[in-house]
Amino acid sequence: MVRRPTPAALARAAALLRKGEVVAFPTETVYGLGANALDEEAVRKVFALKGRPDDNPLIAHVADRRMLARLVTRVPPAARALADRFWPGPLTLVLPKRPSVPDTVTAGLPTVAVRMPSHPVALALIRAAGVPLAAPSANRSGRPSPTTAAHVAEDFPGLLVLDGGPCAHGLESSVVALEPRPRLLRPGAIPLEALRELVPDLTVARRRAGQPVESPGLKYRHYAPSRPLVLYRPSRVAALIADAAADPHAVVLGPDVLAPHVPAHRFVPLGTTAEEIGRSLFAALRTDRPGSVLLVLGLRRSGVGRTVMDRLERAATRVV
Ligand code: TXA
Ligand code: MG
Repeated sequence: MVRRPTPAALARAAALLRKGEVVAFPTETVYGLGANALDEEAVRKVFALKGRPDDNPLIAHVADRRMLARLVTRVPPAARALADRFWPGPLTLVLPKRPSVPDTVTAGLPTVAVRMPSHPVALALIRAAGVPLAAPSANRSGRPSPTTAAHVAEDFPGLLVLDGGPCAHGLESSVVALEPRPRLLRPGAIPLEALRELVPDLTVARRRAGQPVESPGLKYRHYAPSRPLVLYRPSRVAALIADAAADPHAVVLGPDVLAPHVPAHRFVPLGTTAEEIGRSLFAALRTDRPGSVLLVLGLRRSGVGRTVMDRLERAATRVV
């Protein structure tokens, strides 16, 4: 059930969360599948609903610094500086956890990932529930993250979804760990360059072994649309245009500037700037435009373009 976030709907959602149930809610990045982060059983329901492997920890969403203090033992100076600048907003900090945070949330790690979202409905819901909300993106495991309430309803019919409109960023939060060294664990809505203004020695964590960028095995695919996806590097735009012309079953996703070069009825324009493309990407990956393969033009790896490329590489069956 998709519901407008009226005071009554918020109160109902908060009551469900306090009873240990799962509710989907909007954030400025993507929609989240939320449960009381301090309730082990409730958090298990999130893993089960999503079909998420239990070795992949969740982010705890807080509404204020007091709630943060209930989850972590310490906030290193660099983490404090990042939080001062980017919270509330699309930044997740990995911090040493208190024993009261269930191992289910953190997948047994000694750290917990915490974020203070800026979406007013997310903040209102956390405050009304009075507890931090553990929430992964509200998609079934492997599917593109949801950027509208309708996407969540598509993956989880029957679940209460608070409708906060389309997500402002459309890409997940940037995940940063500070200890033992500052690392960007997941590129996200806040570009690496902006994070480095505050933490100059921030490095980009390497991808997990067994997940080569050039040919991600099918079983490692994330953000996957329901058909094969071929990703073209920006320098290979001519190859994309040729392949699109040769294959009448190809659907093309790319920046608006591609429009004159590909058949209009088989083109899904993503926008002009990297931010616009990031905002429309996940919805576009869910496109129902008829065709058997998606050909996607990638972006330069700077700013939000780096995040868009990360998501596309994980979604791709082949990179050209
Ligand atoms: O924007 C977002 O972050 C969205 C919205 C709903 O807030 N949430 C989201 O959650 O993307 P999810 O579960 O799809 O991704 C959580 C990421 C994963 O890459 C996970 O491995 C990492 O955060 N993570 C969580 N806890 C961690 C920890 N203790 N140490 C390292 N990484 C952690
Ligand atoms: Mg996710």
